[in-house]
Amino acid sequence: MMKVSPSILTCDFAHGAEALQFVEKNGADMVHLDVMDGIFVPNLSFGPPVIACLRPHTTLPFDVHLMMQKPHRLIEAFAKAGADSLNIHLECDSPIQETLEKIRSLGVSPAITIKPNTPASAVFPYLPLVDMVLVMTVEPGFGGQSFMADMLPKVTALRQEIDRQGLSVSIQVDGGINAETAVMAAKAGVDNVVMGSAFFNETYPQALVKQVQAL
Ligand code: DX5
Ligand code: ZN
Repeated sequence: MMKVSPSILTCDFAHGAEALQFVEKNGADMVHLDVMDGIFVPNLSFGPPVIACLRPHTTLPFDVHLMMQKPHRLIEAFAKAGADSLNIHLECDSPIQETLEKIRSLGVSPAITIKPNTPASAVFPYLPLVDMVLVMTVEPGFGGQSFMADMLPKVTALRQEIDRQGLSVSIQVDGGINAETAVMAAKAGVDNVVMGSAFFNETYPQALVKQVQAL
């Protein structure tokens, strides 16, 4: 079954609790929280204090995507704020193995992300340390961009390598996911999709979530 993780990046943060309840009510599996530092990506969003404020308003797991430099300095703060999984970029300037191990040691699920220009093979050495790999299907930074179908061979390569190593690691895609692109992702071996604009602009989000979960 495909898991659906709606991104609340474009929600009205004065009404963040309502956005979370909307995500939960429409049957999503988790909530995707996009942390951007204005340096690693050209956009700035929110950090641990905002996540801590959102935490009491849903029981869904918080899937936290860290588009930032030096994430190792804030791992404890994100864990304390209520992150269930912490996803660092392979391209960031933190020591990758050490940061993933630190996330695990705090009882949080470690994950790693690759940007469109990073090959799948770059993440192979870290597969035993993570529960999930996120293959970006847009350049990170903004919601509402178009899906890059040419990222799908990376998903296939990752799925093969995960199986070869006998691991149980999820593959997530993020960027431009809708009912159609989710089908392509599922065929390539994805089992978790982030959905921002397609979910929040949908007239029948519950039906959309059900349809994608069935892929
Ligand atoms: C992009 C973010 C995404 C974004 C997805 O940098 O990581 O999570 O919110 O939004 P859509 O689904 O609109 O591409
Ligand atoms: Zn994201």
